[in-house]
Amino acid sequence: MYKEIVSASEQSKIKSSDFGSDFYWGISASALQTEGAHNIEGKGFSIWDEFASKRNKILNKDTPSVAADFYSKYEEDISIIKALNIPNFRLSFAWSRIIPNGTGVINRRGLNYYHKVIDACIANGIEPWVTLYNWDLPLELEVKGGWTNRAIINWFVEYVELCVREFKGKVKYWMVINEPMAIAGAGHFLGIHAPGKKGKSNFLSAMHHVALCQSIGLRTIKSIQPDAIVGTTFSCSYITPYSNSDRDRRAANRIDALLNRAFIEPALGMGYPIDSLPFLSDIKKYFQPGDEDLLKANFDFVGIQNYTREVVKASFYIPYLFAKFVPADKRKVYHTLMDWEVYPESIYEMIKKFAQYEGIPKLIITENGASFPDEMIDGEVNDRDRKRFIQSYLEQVLKAKNEGLNIHGYFVWSLTDNFEWTEGYRQRYGLVYIDFYTQKRTIKNSGYWYRDFLSK
Ligand code: FCB
Repeated sequence: MYKEIVSASEQSKIKSSDFGSDFYWGISASALQTEGAHNIEGKGFSIWDEFASKRNKILNKDTPSVAADFYSKYEEDISIIKALNIPNFRLSFAWSRIIPNGTGVINRRGLNYYHKVIDACIANGIEPWVTLYNWDLPLELEVKGGWTNRAIINWFVEYVELCVREFKGKVKYWMVINEPMAIAGAGHFLGIHAPGKKGKSNFLSAMHHVALCQSIGLRTIKSIQPDAIVGTTFSCSYITPYSNSDRDRRAANRIDALLNRAFIEPALGMGYPIDSLPFLSDIKKYFQPGDEDLLKANFDFVGIQNYTREVVKASFYIPYLFAKFVPADKRKVYHTLMDWEVYPESIYEMIKKFAQYEGIPKLIITENGASFPDEMIDGEVNDRDRKRFIQSYLEQVLKAKNEGLNIHGYFVWSLTDNFEWTEGYRQRYGLVYIDFYTQKRTIKNSGYWYRDFLSK
């Protein structure tokens, strides 16, 4: 087998108190991946319901229609969060549960459901952190062009206003959009995520509209709830060149611009990173007068989500980017079931990178975790790899914190095993194991470890 995590994680001495008493500790989940109940109590279909019904899109033809049944099990799951001593829970709202067609008629039963979930958090002393958009666009909006149609700004504002008016007395922490680059790149360039669109014009139009919705969404929240704490969440990966050659280094620089800079920089008033990625210059086609200013956002915090690093090689054959990833298994390095390299230093490098920007008051790790082939043996899931993964990444977060970098929180992905997008139910990220036939919950050893860690 490949070399395991090098650090002394097994004997790791880090304690949550090393991070200071005001550090935010939490756990993350999202609606589409956990709720199920995809057509219950007035919910409309989302692009992921539709995507999953097409052939060969999702591993094993899995669908999100039942998922981890959080819809009916939310009380049990929230009581598990409490039992694990986790003070903050990041969840998302499903737009199509609240406004089934994305715009127009409101589904009161959907709003009531989220009231019950939020109330259960509060009753258990858990702070809810709500992501407004976690990739599950109402299908009816996709029929009208979805993210490629600039009208999405109005639809999105209508949805955000409704949610904030409804929950402003209960929800203090809001995140606007989960991982904009996944929406634009996986959903509108590669076509491997819903809605399965491909090509440069879909990509650039979706990218610009997502970026606008992110900053306009932030302002909308603040205008209705001035004391809200608002942010958004970006995926990011430490990028290293495959070799020291100029070609590979330039290729790595292009991928870094795409994966790590393309959304934060316009939000900070720096514009899209066109210098490093010339093909992005065509995004100007989708600009209207005033967009440069509209793109600017005032964050209370920025969520960064890191799992791995990418090693990048120049490639003549890949359009626009002229670069490709060298997969972890090819490099024969220790990796997760997703073939994501376990590289704890990546999280440190990403904190360092984002901390260099001016205009980010706080950084919070809003997702970090790992999928390994968990096995339930005699009622126990001894997921030693996951525990060591989290410990070793946390050691790097602590290193960043001790160097004075601007890091203020850490959320594990994820509470329970769930629907991992195109990977269906094969990938298990939870601290809580789900038997998807019975929906029985079993806390994994990593969950008990996190509980103990949080109490020290
Ligand atoms: C992130 C997503 C999250 C989950 C993890 C594994 O990119 O935000 O929903 O799928 O990856």
